Amino acid sequence: MSSEKFLDKKSLKRLDRELQSLISRDGFDRKTEDEVFDKSTLHTLEKLISDGVIGILDFPISTGKEGNVFRGVTPKKKFVAVKIYRTSTSTFKHISDYILGDPRFKSIKRTRRAIVHAWTKKEFKNLERLNKAGVRAPKPIISIDNVLVMEYIGDAERAAPLLKDVTMKNPKEIFDTLIDFMSKMYKKAELVHGDISAYNVLMYENQPYLIDLGQGVLVEHPNALEFLKRDINNLVSYFKKFNITADENEIFRNIIKKKS
Ligand SMILES: Nc1ncnc2c1ncn2[C@@H]1O[C@H](COP(=O)(O)OP(=O)(O)O)[C@@H](O)[C@H]1O
Ligand SMILES: [Mg+2]
Repeated sequence: MSSEKFLDKKSLKRLDRELQSLISRDGFDRKTEDEVFDKSTLHTLEKLISDGVIGILDFPISTGKEGNVFRGVTPKKKFVAVKIYRTSTSTFKHISDYILGDPRFKSIKRTRRAIVHAWTKKEFKNLERLNKAGVRAPKPIISIDNVLVMEYIGDAERAAPLLKDVTMKNPKEIFDTLIDFMSKMYKKAELVHGDISAYNVLMYENQPYLIDLGQGVLVEHPNALEFLKRDINNLVSYFKKFNITADENEIFRNIIKKKS
């Protein structure tokens, strides 16, 4: 079944039951449910369940402007992270600006839903490129429509904290690693993150992981260098608080320098 138009009462009821079994009661509030699970998202989740990608959604890790992230558990009891983009997002304009400049998504339809789906696929592909380039980031597992399933970073107790919320033992090493990630990302993955900050880096076992790759652009994007400068500036400013000094222009030049 692909079109939600043909949802009759019976299948709606079935979906409702699926939803009930999908969501364990703890830590789940009604508001999140109403916002996230529109009919077609339910279909997608249902497909992920019947395909054995997820068993249940555990609890929401985060509720954001553009979507929510849940911890999921697979039938084999492994954790995954499930990011669900809202198709009725108020930040839609922001999304379409990034997507419409990307040659990989030239032929997508200009409807809101199609654009959010393309955005989700873009995050999947960007995560794939990062992993290939040796940049630490969640491994993407599958994306369908507005739902992205990826490697869960964290342990049984809790999802990995954000960089902004941890006390770093070795800020200099972490800073250098992040600059190295940006460089590998530019040179090997040919991508610019576009939203690097202490809010989009997870810290797990004292190692940083880049997340939130939806807005990542190819280096040939007209604004790629401007985004790169901003990313560098964000990191340098953040690490200044930990007495790390760095020359932003030098970092920029080294990143965009051709491989010799
Ligand atoms: N793979 C993951 N493993 C664990 N937690 C994650 C993962 N991806 C995202 N999160 C959590 O979900 C939050 C939101 O994810 P993010 O991709 O930054 O989306 P947005 O900022 O657009 O809401 C993150 O701040 C992080 O706490
Ligand atoms: Mg984020």
